[in-house]
Amino acid sequence: MDIKDPILEVDSLNTHIFLKEGVARVVNGVSFQIARGGVLGLVGESGSGKSMTALSILGVVPFPGEVVSGEVKLNGRDLLSISSDELRKIRGNEISIIFQDAVASLNPVLSVGDQMVEGITVHLDATKRDAEKMSLHLLGQVGLPDPERIMRGYPFQLSGGMAQRVMMAMAVALSPRVLIADEPTSNLDVTLQAELLYRLRMLRQEYDTAVLLITHDMGVVAGTADAVAVMYAGSLVEYSGTRTIFERPAHPYTWALLQAVPRLDSPFSTLRPLTGSPPDPMEMPVECPFLPRCPKASSKCRTSPMPPLVEFEEGHKVACYNPIEPQR
Ligand SMILES: Nc1ncnc2c1ncn2[C@@H]1O[C@H](COP(=O)(O)OP(=O)(O)OP(=O)(O)O)[C@@H](O)[C@H]1O
Ligand code: SF4
Ligand SMILES: [Mg+2]
Repeated sequence: MDIKDPILEVDSLNTHIFLKEGVARVVNGVSFQIARGGVLGLVGESGSGKSMTALSILGVVPFPGEVVSGEVKLNGRDLLSISSDELRKIRGNEISIIFQDAVASLNPVLSVGDQMVEGITVHLDATKRDAEKMSLHLLGQVGLPDPERIMRGYPFQLSGGMAQRVMMAMAVALSPRVLIADEPTSNLDVTLQAELLYRLRMLRQEYDTAVLLITHDMGVVAGTADAVAVMYAGSLVEYSGTRTIFERPAHPYTWALLQAVPRLDSPFSTLRPLTGSPPDPMEMPVECPFLPRCPKASSKCRTSPMPPLVEFEEGHKVACYNPIEPQR
């Protein structure tokens, strides 16, 4: 899956949360790359470490969490080794995020217009008036009706869906090279979901922005992402082009996730639905973290350390001792 001249490279990222009770290993050796203008879907069930990965990339893991090792390169520059001032400049400007909880991540005491204008004037050499014009245009672009009214309003007056659109407008205001969209559709109804994903694609076309699309929904990545990284218990367990993931999923966990996606020709109907839960990040096992839930577990899985993410076929990586062979 090595991409020539990627815009974002994440290499062996490890993030821990240092709690009184112990260390929670929430991101474990995650590596991936995103092409310029490409979309990588990061999928996995709740608690698998998707948001922590996003926060680690941006260098904003909240205390007592910390990126303990790894590299994050944006356009060749390592974000984890630069000063916090430099990083602040890059955030918003070259890389930005639509947070999972959009309402909470907006400033409650500033009107939507004021915070958009402030964000734009801080990073761009723009007058207040130009920033206002730009904000109105952007709010319209993300499909918000009556942008003037939205600008005058405060975050608490927005629905979850509207807040996510506002965040999207703010996130693309500076035409970043990379946009991280954390579950931008999770609390929206299906029509809004589809529209927002459509807007995301348009914005990507217009600005050639690369997107890290975080979701627990395989259906969302199917229509949007070029490549997919499947995360389980803080690690990537499968990583490949989107088509390959859907046509030839090799990791038992990916198979289980795909069962939830309704399709007419589903080859997955023989597999039992996923039961049990992932391991506690404070008590991460040495062996495969999917072992207790895995229908394909063998004695090798029980006696070996966690399988590394290795090339299974060209451009298709899997972390499993018994990957599901493609049915040709
Ligand atoms: N402040 C914290 N203290 C302790 N553990 C935390 C803290 N924040 C997150 N975690 C743990 O880190 C792990 C990864 O959380 P993360 O929010 O990245 O999951 P996620 O994949 O984004 O889930 P979701 O789909 O629900 O958003 C989880 O096990 C979570 O319980
Ligand atoms: S390594 Fe073994 S337990 Fe883990 S996913 Fe593969 S088959 Fe299942
Ligand atoms: Mg999350």
